[in-house]
Amino acid sequence: MKNILVIGATGQIGSELTMELRKRYGNTNVVAGYIQGAEPKGELKDSGPSEIVDVTNEAMIESVVKAYHIDTIYNLAALLSVVAESKPKLAWKIGIDGLWNVLEVARVHGCAVFTPSSIGSFGADTPHTLTPQDTIQRPRTMYGVTKVTTEMLSDYYHTKYGVDTRAVRFPGIISNVTPPGGGTTDYAVDIYYSAVKGEKFVCPIAEGTLMDMMYMPDALNAAISLMEADPTKLVHRNAFNIASMSFAPEMIYAAIKKEVPDFEMVYDVDPLKQSIANSWPDSLDDTCARNEWGWKPVYDLESMTKDMLEKLRAKL
Ligand SMILES: NC(=O)c1ccc[n+]([C@@H]2O[C@H](COP(=O)([O-])OP(=O)(O)OC[C@H]3O[C@@H](n4cnc5c(N)ncnc54)[C@H](O)[C@@H]3O)[C@@H](O)[C@H]2O)c1
Repeated sequence: MKNILVIGATGQIGSELTMELRKRYGNTNVVAGYIQGAEPKGELKDSGPSEIVDVTNEAMIESVVKAYHIDTIYNLAALLSVVAESKPKLAWKIGIDGLWNVLEVARVHGCAVFTPSSIGSFGADTPHTLTPQDTIQRPRTMYGVTKVTTEMLSDYYHTKYGVDTRAVRFPGIISNVTPPGGGTTDYAVDIYYSAVKGEKFVCPIAEGTLMDMMYMPDALNAAISLMEADPTKLVHRNAFNIASMSFAPEMIYAAIKKEVPDFEMVYDVDPLKQSIANSWPDSLDDTCARNEWGWKPVYDLESMTKDMLEKLRAKL
């Protein structure tokens, strides 16, 4: 990786991934791709180049790839799970037609491509505990449908055209820089903001609902280490299970309450979010990622909670 384009660079993951890549590969070598209405601001804007890159416009992607001699594309453009249910056609257009454009440009210009999948790529028929790397993927949400297709189309471009496509299945990502964009696991970010603001938290997910989660620094490390991994060691490509922690609302609440003793949480379950959450795994088996490219997370619920509270106290 020398010259990198991040598409969707102002989103929850993109805003931090772009800065981490700039730290590691040099500010001028990482282009922040954004769309109108989601312009980069502050440090993200000032620290390096940025360009309008709409993933639904192949010529636009190609002109930026050519101008900056891009060799690696992180394609983060997507509508997240809850938003995609209200705009399924647009979710497909961005997630799949957009991906096709990225892959075509990558094929012609020899770029490697990272397009994340998700725990949402599984469905109710998937084994829910220690979900294997290779298993049933029959999701019933549009988000899940686009994620399974992402995995298959990315693998297709690798086997048919030799495009270097690699990805992980992200769990719910918890972070403190850019708020999440409308997913099922957003509650696990929102709960920290409530705790720091001294507000009672109203949890939209029912007690006992286990989901895989990950702290942003581990997610960034996964995305970068996989793209740096020795390709001869990769048996899988799109996309690797990665895991670091799995918890239900009462467990994250207890972890926060240890640090903020008067914090209160009540439940008001959102039926759409709950039905999506019920169809997702409780925990993933990430053995293949560990064996094929040395994946190893750093944070657990306790250490993430301490760090999140410290960062948010400073920020708010
Ligand atoms: N955040 C999570 O918990 C999580 C979990 C699993 C997988 N993922 C995946 O990671 C990727 C990034 O997620 P995120 O949480 O940063 O999402 P986000 O919603 O915060 O960011 C998505 C970005 O895509 C941009 N975008 C929208 N339409 C576009 C278009 N037509 N062209 C170019 N860009 C466009 C948006 O402006 C935004 O910056 C997505 O593929 C998502 O499915 C995220």
